[in-house]
Amino acid sequence: MSESVRHHPAIGQPCPRPDAEDKVAGRAAYVDDLAFPGMLHAMVVRSAVPHGSVRGIDARRALTLPGVEAIATSADVPGDNIVHVIYDDQPAFADRVVRYVGEPLAVIGAVSRREAQRAVSRVVVDIEEMPAVTDPLQALREDAPAVAAPSVAERAPNVFNEMRIRRGDLEQGFADAAVIVEGDYATGYQEHAYLEPQGAIAVPEALGGMTIYGSMQCPFYVQAAVARVLGLPLSKVRVVHTVTGGAFGGKEDVPSHLCSLAAVLAWKAGRPVKLVLDRGEDIRTTSKRHPARVHFRTAASADGHLTALEAQLVYNAGAYQTLSSAVLWRGLVTAPGPYRVPNVAIDAVSVATNTIPCGAFRGFGSPQVILAHEMQMDRLAERLGLDPLEIRRRNILREGDTSATGQRLDGSTGVADTIDLAESRSAWGSSRDAIRAHNLLKPRIRRGIGVSSVMYGVGLGGKAPFLDKAGAYLKLEADGSISVSVGTVEMGQGLIAALTQVASDALRVPAELVHFTPVDSSRVPDSGPTVASRGTIMSALAILDAADELKTRISRVATELGIDEADIASRHTDIARAFWERNLDPAVEGWAQGSPVDWDPRTGQGHAYGTYAYATHIAEVQVDTVTGEVTVDRFVAVHDSGTILNHQMASGQVEGGIAQGIGLAVTEEIPIRGGHLDVNGFTTYRIPTIRDVAPITDVGFVEAAWAYGPHGAKGLGEVPLMAAHAAVACAVGHALGQPVSAYPLSPATVLGLSEGS
Ligand code: MTE
Ligand code: MOS
Repeated sequence: MSESVRHHPAIGQPCPRPDAEDKVAGRAAYVDDLAFPGMLHAMVVRSAVPHGSVRGIDARRALTLPGVEAIATSADVPGDNIVHVIYDDQPAFADRVVRYVGEPLAVIGAVSRREAQRAVSRVVVDIEEMPAVTDPLQALREDAPAVAAPSVAERAPNVFNEMRIRRGDLEQGFADAAVIVEGDYATGYQEHAYLEPQGAIAVPEALGGMTIYGSMQCPFYVQAAVARVLGLPLSKVRVVHTVTGGAFGGKEDVPSHLCSLAAVLAWKAGRPVKLVLDRGEDIRTTSKRHPARVHFRTAASADGHLTALEAQLVYNAGAYQTLSSAVLWRGLVTAPGPYRVPNVAIDAVSVATNTIPCGAFRGFGSPQVILAHEMQMDRLAERLGLDPLEIRRRNILREGDTSATGQRLDGSTGVADTIDLAESRSAWGSSRDAIRAHNLLKPRIRRGIGVSSVMYGVGLGGKAPFLDKAGAYLKLEADGSISVSVGTVEMGQGLIAALTQVASDALRVPAELVHFTPVDSSRVPDSGPTVASRGTIMSALAILDAADELKTRISRVATELGIDEADIASRHTDIARAFWERNLDPAVEGWAQGSPVDWDPRTGQGHAYGTYAYATHIAEVQVDTVTGEVTVDRFVAVHDSGTILNHQMASGQVEGGIAQGIGLAVTEEIPIRGGHLDVNGFTTYRIPTIRDVAPITDVGFVEAAWAYGPHGAKGLGEVPLMAAHAAVACAVGHALGQPVSAYPLSPATVLGLSEGS
């Protein structure tokens, strides 16, 4: 029994989600359910071409329509016409140049959505088309049109970012090898498919301020972006998070842009402005997972120990930098996988193209390399006559080992245990034997089993340590209930439920007494973004910090009232009442900082992340060699995310992540034609559902506690997707006897592979 289970019985329990009932009953108020007096409904005028020079925008025929009230373009921006994310290259409103199809040029506000839509169709935009490049490999050629302004690209014209890892002696590593395998891997766009599209309302306030209500992951990014575009001090911009119907990374940077557009129009019109995208517009014009091409050359000794890895990563960033440098960095750090690799050289670039800016998506740049590192392990196993699970076990990182980025791993390194548990739960050996026997006769339906192990750096790591903080505000109300405010958001992952457990446990009050206020930038300090699986753990640390002080005050009052320490919980309401009667301060602020990191960009060595979460997934599939259809039959998913704060929700996270992983590997695809994303909604973009996953999934946890984490917890939210897709890919590879090199495993791709088998 771990320390935290013994002393904190609430931790780990499947307590119900406080936010669930409102959501399933339809009572939860999403941003589109809110309205303000005099509010305008806005729609965006967008570029129809991938690259062009803007000669003019003629809105006269739009503005004379009844109900049309206002238009905003770059000329109306009171501050800087910039959406600040990491760099300052993206304008809020394109002015002289458009760089992708769907780029915003203007926003029109009308009394209803219908009027706004009609007005948008009457705006005449005069654009002189310029040569465009949409493929990242073509964009790297010398004769390619330059996508970005010269000051923006780091090196060559269309290279946004360039990063590397150098470790050991690569030549020696290859010389020492008994086998070398080499492969190219390609992954495409993936859409977040959150249930609730992007949306926000900007409300001008008295005294010249602006309040933003919106569906988002990063209220403090939005605060900074809106302040910049309006030319206001941060203290005049307030951001209130509204109930968010899923995000998955898609509401990390995009809301900064959307809210800036709404805010500029609201500023100009002096009225509240609602800007909510419809599904088609959202799916075609907002960020996606970066498509990537990666090349891996991996070497191992005769007994299956890795000796060297050389890799090149090319990520398609789209027209502006947004989050690409952070996404690419995670791809770089994740590329060696959860394995000991003594000699490493990895080069990574993100490339500017005339396509939508790609952004964050669950896993954040890592699935693109995980397909490669796992398929390479299977190829090595095949060449060496080793079992795929055994070769992973021989190389897996253990406590005391040094990672490929030069970090000595601590006691919270439970990945070897995830392999062992996944092996026994799946009956790996006998399942493989049965499958081999089945496939021997080359039946129409081939079966396969695949394993994938992954490593995920929790939090923002050495790329952006200055963002890794969190605040919390606890208030003991006179009736004994507890108000909690934090700065990271609920977007479906179960943050409120987990934090309710942490707060109720820390203060020894029933969970029913703990209530969370909506996240509001005016209540808590900048708590960084809700990303990188840091949201729940960082706010938990801040709550624990605040609770320490509040508990001390509660004990003091209890002593004054003659209440024994053992009776504090049962006399809680009397104590709360005494705070009020005696005019005692019942409110406390808590604070947390990320654990220390350091990183040398020249060598790619350092303490990349404070800790790592791990997982091993095993998938079983059937592949129909006539139709090309892939069916996933069974999943065993074992995770080390340290102490699990709520087992039921954690299992839900794993099941949801597996669904997205299967989608990435098998069904999800967005073709691009002439710079246009060829996708409208979920009739053609096919995503798996809970029915495809829950009945077949067996979830297990290895709880290798992290000393720095709240009760030993590490992050969990993104890891399931990361492990799932590669397990499916390896299983399909096993079924067909051919390595998989590209997603999605559509019928055409599968039939191509099965011809070779
Ligand atoms: N689960 C649901 N239901 N909805 C989401 O939007 N986002 C994922 C993951 N799980 C997401 C989700 C992503 S991208 C992240 S970074 C983590 O949740 C954030 O969870 P955290 O609070 O552990 O940081
Ligand atoms: Mo998650 S991609 O880090 O929002």
